[in-house]
Amino acid sequence: MINLNKIICNNYIEMSRYAAQIIAKQIKVRPSAVLGLATGSTPVGTYHELIKMNRAGKLDFSKITTFNLDEYYRIEKHNPQSYHYFMHKHLFSHININSGSIHIPDGDVDCADEECRRYDCMIEQAGGIDLQILGLGANGHIGFNEPSSALFSNTHLTPLTIETIQANSRFFANIDDVPKYAITMGMSSILQAKKILLLITGSSKAKIAAEIFKGRITTDIPATLLQLHPDITVIMDREAASCIAQ
Ligand code: GLP
Repeated sequence: MINLNKIICNNYIEMSRYAAQIIAKQIKVRPSAVLGLATGSTPVGTYHELIKMNRAGKLDFSKITTFNLDEYYRIEKHNPQSYHYFMHKHLFSHININSGSIHIPDGDVDCADEECRRYDCMIEQAGGIDLQILGLGANGHIGFNEPSSALFSNTHLTPLTIETIQANSRFFANIDDVPKYAITMGMSSILQAKKILLLITGSSKAKIAAEIFKGRITTDIPATLLQLHPDITVIMDREAASCIAQ
């Protein structure tokens, strides 16, 4: 019995609006909500819709807390390729969020293990994540939980696969500039969120997206583990949904 609530939208803009409405509803129900946030191009449209709601005075971010899924290692926060920079550019600097309530793993520390433990403690102290936003990696990764024979439960340092380095090289001048490691929340940390929203867009994700709906769970496709979550909504556009058996 597959537990996924599936919403298929006509296009990327519709998907982004739908996702933003769900996030807005969560913040209205609980103004001090703890949100888990994702990077990548997929959620940019959703963040744009949230910014519009905030500017129109319809959504207040002043009490929320955020935890991002991941950050490259090793990278400085002010580097334009860092996820710190990305999140400020696409969301945080446009909304009325308290800067002390923003959490992103620090990818510029000597001891990554210590940073991972600190990050897990902060999530726990915040009372866990109410709503986790996710994108889908081209190889089925979630956050930077890469396909492997075994997955980690908590926040950890991980090598990136060649597929991910290639996929993410589009944001860098040169593929050699893409960091080879990242700090990422683990699958258990992600699955502990009370609600999950998975966004998938475009035909290039269609085949890997279909794997999530087959009832098979494998660490070779980390996103298939999401089927274990009791409250997950997958919002996709028609192109991304084109390989799902009807
Ligand atoms: C990165 C991030 C993931 C994201 C993925 C997909 O690797 N670590 O969290 O889901 O990219 O990115 P995009 O949305 O650009 O396809």
